[in-house]
Amino acid sequence: KIRGFIFDLDGVIVDTAKYHYLAWKKLANELGFEFTPEQNERFKGVSRRRCLEILLEIGNITATQAQFDRWMVGKNEDYLAYVKNMDESEILPDVLKVLNFLKERKIPTALGSASKNAKVILEKVGLLPYFDVLVDGNSVTKAKPDPQVFLIGARQMGVDPANCVVFEDALAGIQAANNAGMVSIGIGDKELLGEADYNFRDFTEIDSDFLTRLISG
Ligand code: G6P
Ligand code: MG
Repeated sequence: KIRGFIFDLDGVIVDTAKYHYLAWKKLANELGFEFTPEQNERFKGVSRRRCLEILLEIGNITATQAQFDRWMVGKNEDYLAYVKNMDESEILPDVLKVLNFLKERKIPTALGSASKNAKVILEKVGLLPYFDVLVDGNSVTKAKPDPQVFLIGARQMGVDPANCVVFEDALAGIQAANNAGMVSIGIGDKELLGEADYNFRDFTEIDSDFLTRLISG
């Protein structure tokens, strides 16, 4: 019986990967190398710090601590310039349908994201009121596939992990949900997210029958 619903943010609720990509590409280009959309796939669900480490490996660049920190800040400033222009039109299809289903039934919801910008993004797209609990990159010390982010979410919702479901678009996120002992739902490429308990292309494929079955167990 599912009693709490946990959502990843980037790639599940909004498609911010395109903005992360543009900001990382700008930095790569400034440092004199290319960064492709395919390479950006590896950045999904990965912390900002780890992304920069991978980017510098791709460019074969060694940095001083001061340079590293400056590039982290610069990338985030560029990213936030895109975020500033976001509005509710960027909510992915039928996400609101699912959130309203849960709200009408007063079922606890949590956001479980690696992003330190999660709150401002939810504010921009008007979804902050839909979440009872926010767990983001500011409150976790261990990255997905470690279950920490989702376990904190469950605890703050007051729901046993075994009674939680997680929506995720990244393999590390599905693994984190599985490691937490939760029901995992892959949103996106089924080939990539085969470890999930359920797979859907996007929320348009999730109907109220499926949600009703989850909550009535
Ligand atoms: C999400 C995205 C990643 C991003 C990470 C950190 O997990 O999928 O691509 O690197 O959040 O985001 P932040 O907003 O803190 O830089
Ligand atoms: Mg994601």
